[in-house]
Amino acid sequence: MQEKNGHYDADRCLQQTLTAPDFGDWIQRSLASGEHLIATGNQGMVLRYCDHQHDLAIKCVGGNALLRGLRSWMLRREYRAFQRLQGVPGIPRCYGMAGAQALVLQYVPGSSYRHAQLQDREHWFVRLEQTVRQMHARGVSHGDLKRKANLLAADDGQPYVLDLGTAVFKKPVWHVCNNWLFRQHCRADINAVLKHKYHGRYDQIQGTDLTKLDVTNAERGWRRLRRWLGLQH
Ligand SMILES: Nc1ncnc2c1ncn2[C@@H]1O[C@H](COP(=O)(O)OP(=O)(O)O)[C@@H](O)[C@H]1O
Ligand SMILES: [Mg+2]
Repeated sequence: MQEKNGHYDADRCLQQTLTAPDFGDWIQRSLASGEHLIATGNQGMVLRYCDHQHDLAIKCVGGNALLRGLRSWMLRREYRAFQRLQGVPGIPRCYGMAGAQALVLQYVPGSSYRHAQLQDREHWFVRLEQTVRQMHARGVSHGDLKRKANLLAADDGQPYVLDLGTAVFKKPVWHVCNNWLFRQHCRADINAVLKHKYHGRYDQIQGTDLTKLDVTNAERGWRRLRRWLGLQH
């Protein structure tokens, strides 16, 4: 009970921090100066906010007014996806939005999958697949997991899935097109895990992994196009 109260107080304190005008000012100043910037992604910038109680990654939208409007809409969708996935191991905890243009997440210490030195590669991929399947079971697909920057190897050995900006939500059965897209995304997510596990060599996938590979027509077409453009052999 005491621990519960402790969590409650910490959460309340965090909500006060996020809604304080100072916090909005801190975001604007950091965006303008580039201080506290940890990454520049497709949607905008990611800042790190650290004080004696919190360590946060703040995803902020950027660009001109039109782009910002679109990206804020996407950020709100991303927020909904994080809410649905609250508590799934391998998904950063989400603390809400700070205004319309900043999404507040737990900062995960680690390195991007691209540069990560995995201690137990086999086990790392087992855990990554578990995270992805739990996402799907909660009705959220990712759709952009082939991008290495969307995977993070945490220092404690846990794989993390980032960037739910392209997520599709499973809806009631009569949303036929939406749910078709959701299923395509789910297949592409598992294929992405296998792709990374085998260093992009689909021809080397074997055993039970081979039974999990389920290439979609879109992926087949995209691969053909890349080959045709000389981007992959
Ligand atoms: N919760 C987090 N903890 C640590 N680093 C993060 C976190 N969220 C994002 N990042 C860093 O920011 C980068 C961009 O984040 P991402 O959500 O992919 O933004 P975008 O939608 O702009 O691509 C990631 O590749 C990662 O390096
Ligand atoms: Mg990204």
